Amino acid sequence: MTKTDLIIIGGGPGGYGAAGYAARLGLDVIVIEQASVGGTCLNVGCIPTKTWSHEADILRARRTADPTATIDFQRVRRRQQEVIEQLRNGVETLLSAPSIRLVKGKAHFIDAHTVATDEETFEAKHIIIATGSEAKMPPIAITDTQRVMTSTELLAIDHVPESLVIIGAGVIGMEFASIFQTFGSKVTVIEYLKECLPTLDSDIAKRLRKSMEKRGIDFHMQAGVTAITANGVTFERKGKQQTVSAEAILIATGRKPCLENLRLEAAGIAFTAKGITVDEQMRTSCQGIYAIGDVNGQTMLAHAASMQAIIAVNNILGRTDHIDLSIMPSAIFTYPEAASVGLSEDFCEAKGMEYTCRKGFFRANGKAMAMEETEGMVKLIADSDGKVVGCHAFGAHSADMIQEISSLMCMGVTIEQLRDMVHIHPTLGEILHDTSMIS
Ligand code: NAI
Repeated sequence: MTKTDLIIIGGGPGGYGAAGYAARLGLDVIVIEQASVGGTCLNVGCIPTKTWSHEADILRARRTADPTATIDFQRVRRRQQEVIEQLRNGVETLLSAPSIRLVKGKAHFIDAHTVATDEETFEAKHIIIATGSEAKMPPIAITDTQRVMTSTELLAIDHVPESLVIIGAGVIGMEFASIFQTFGSKVTVIEYLKECLPTLDSDIAKRLRKSMEKRGIDFHMQAGVTAITANGVTFERKGKQQTVSAEAILIATGRKPCLENLRLEAAGIAFTAKGITVDEQMRTSCQGIYAIGDVNGQTMLAHAASMQAIIAVNNILGRTDHIDLSIMPSAIFTYPEAASVGLSEDFCEAKGMEYTCRKGFFRANGKAMAMEETEGMVKLIADSDGKVVGCHAFGAHSADMIQEISSLMCMGVTIEQLRDMVHIHPTLGEILHDTSMIS
């Protein structure tokens, strides 16, 4: 039996973030990881996808000079691997600190303070579960599994498929649709709901979808997939059945927490199909045990996991913090990019809130014109006291613009105060300032 202060199960952004922070604050930590450190984000998620979307940006830029330019996919794959390996080495270095031990293996609970792998048993007063999530398969008949992939398999593909059907117009579906359309695939997206990206302001989501449609992506909205066979993907729309065939099929219908094999019952940890139940301090129903990141099903975003890691470790050490997880910015790396923080206009309307919504457009901004990126819009939402409570946008670098609003929201800034803040000229950030000036 090996004793330590803190056991962390999972070495993704939540797990390695918690390990580094806890070690800096003096705890002895054991991290148990069954695969490569870095988790979904670094190995088969955010990082490789963003490497691909960057390559798509470069290809689009090249095409302005040479419309026949194509992608060298083997070069893209090499670069993707290089980026992953460089970042993974960084995480391994972080986890090689003297007070951290990285253990390879699959962990399961023995009791509330004991965790075991096949080789060794560990005991600690505090345990953090950070095992992440995996792709959720829709409850449909799949008789042709050869062409069916989740995002993990698609990121390992060795060529650009001639055609790609994507099931689900959520974050994963929309990012891959954008990337593969640029790489040269014929892309078709099939979505159950009326609009893509359900958490984004519907006005912004619609404009983004229309923009992607103009670029050649086919969307079938309000269409429920019923079967995947050798003939292709069959879906029902307005009572009619249609089948689309493709070389590759991506299932992007959501993700589910990785709970299997953890034997949570052995420690008496409460969970639902959505994830491990936690309170605001990331405490589970079992004293001393915390759950952070995708596995608690609260917000499936890498940066949410990183901040939840800090909350959990602070709680373990009896420290207070002022991290406000209700202000959670997020971005979708499509072309054009989209991003949001806080309330959407749809939400304010549905709740009958008193609010103001100011709309700003990229087309009048000097930097956007210079960049040939005039497509885009910002919606800035304030409550009845003028306090900024949300911002949803699409257009070049909207993630960076939303980051500014996110920081201002953390400070409780009003539209009036935003008006008094100098913005650099010429920048896309001026769109936010100009939008705040609208009375
Ligand atoms: P999602 O929940 O964002 O979207 C899934 C979509 O599939 C929904 O719109 C749903 O209506 C649709 N759908 C479900 N069943 C269907 C069916 N049978 N037929 C047609 N449509 C169907 O899930 P997604 O895109 O898989 O992403 C998973 C998680 O990963 C999300 O929580 C997301 O936030 C996170 N993620 C975040 C990224 C980022 O921040 N840039 C990038 C990639 C993933």
